[in-house]
Amino acid sequence: MAAELRCFEERCRARFPITEVIYNCSRCGGLLECVYPARTAEPAALKRTWRERRMSNAPLDQSGVWRYREIIDFLDDHSTVVTLREGNTPLLDAPRAASHAGLDKLVFKHQGFNPSGSFKDNGMTCGTAQALRLGMNRVACVSTGNTSASMAAYASAAGLQPIIFIPHGNISYGKLAQALEYGAKTFQVEANFDQILALVRALAERLGIYLLNSINPFRIEGQKTIMVELMDQRDWSPPEWVVLPGGNLGNISAFGKAMREMLELGLIQRSPRLAVIQAAGSAPFYELWKSADRRRLPRVERPETLATAIRIGDPVSWPKALHEVLSSVGVVEKVTEQEIADAKAQIGACGIGCEPASAATLAGIRKLRMSNVIAENADVVAVLTGNLLKDPDYIYRYHTGQLQGPSGMMIHPTYGNQPMVVPNDPAKIAAMLDARPA
Ligand code: F0G
Repeated sequence: MAAELRCFEERCRARFPITEVIYNCSRCGGLLECVYPARTAEPAALKRTWRERRMSNAPLDQSGVWRYREIIDFLDDHSTVVTLREGNTPLLDAPRAASHAGLDKLVFKHQGFNPSGSFKDNGMTCGTAQALRLGMNRVACVSTGNTSASMAAYASAAGLQPIIFIPHGNISYGKLAQALEYGAKTFQVEANFDQILALVRALAERLGIYLLNSINPFRIEGQKTIMVELMDQRDWSPPEWVVLPGGNLGNISAFGKAMREMLELGLIQRSPRLAVIQAAGSAPFYELWKSADRRRLPRVERPETLATAIRIGDPVSWPKALHEVLSSVGVVEKVTEQEIADAKAQIGACGIGCEPASAATLAGIRKLRMSNVIAENADVVAVLTGNLLKDPDYIYRYHTGQLQGPSGMMIHPTYGNQPMVVPNDPAKIAAMLDARPA
């Protein structure tokens, strides 16, 4: 068989069949990854095929994930694939955000354009295909919201039963609403993400339910295509930096793996530097990065941030993430609640918009600019991970000066935009409009 699962730990590297239902190495407990030992490619031919598929009406070719199926070649039969036409996300020029960060130019790759509104769809189409291949009929995840929304959509589309576990009171209504509407059996647990993950792993094993958290290596395969599509959109010219938010650290693991494989296959000649941005109240990976001893993650017992998508204190994929940041000569940074909120309003003012976790990218770039880690004229792509409408409550509170940080401190609406209550009187409204600077 062409693809297999392999332990990520250097000292172990145990191998398992691609069809084994397994999430961690049974020998050493390490993380697993998909590998393709016999893979070879002719880079020019691959690029041509991938470009030609953009003209095709076939569902697999229309997917921004499966269009690149040669680089995620873990299925021997694509009949189990369910696609909602994920991927295909745009590169958007954002001059106002660039100037907020102190850059000449900044481009966003907006994963919020996905069918369920986040980058999770890239991975979920792969995870669901693998679940069907394995003959599973129930799938489960713990989530800060987006994974569950995405899994609910893909599982229901595939005829599988989605079962989701979310931290009670700590996910946005937009995401919870999606899970309910897409038909997921939904459990709100009185615990945080990290505690619930342990619970769900035990349950999945006991009940034979397939686990679709980012520990699942097939989801990582799908998320690789975010970077493949980015390179394709840039005619295979890598930027200097790719910046993304870090929570459970699946996405950085996927991006780094994609870069290494694209280099290996001769699709690109150098890797961009990867910058991971965390929220200051949930920043164990940042602390690890700064620590003299990088062998143990200093996990955060009570992670806090209004960017609930990345409210995670014990990210499972940290060994992969560390490897990828180091391999790409990247960096890790952390940003405050105020910095995230203001960066988010600036992304909104570009006419683009995103959810709070995504805005950590712009806040992080601004910080990395100030410390001169990123140069003013650098070629930077920031990945916006989720759609603006995921968390409207946060937006309303920010613009009306009611947004309160986890410590109880009020977030200042630096770029606030208050709605105005007016009488039904054209003269008064005209006077108010005239009184405002254009
Ligand atoms: N941005 C958004 C919008 C997210 O939903 C997440 C993760 C991240 C960034 C961080 O990505 O975990 O790969 O480092 N959300 C997960 C969830 C944890 O359950 O939806 P990561």
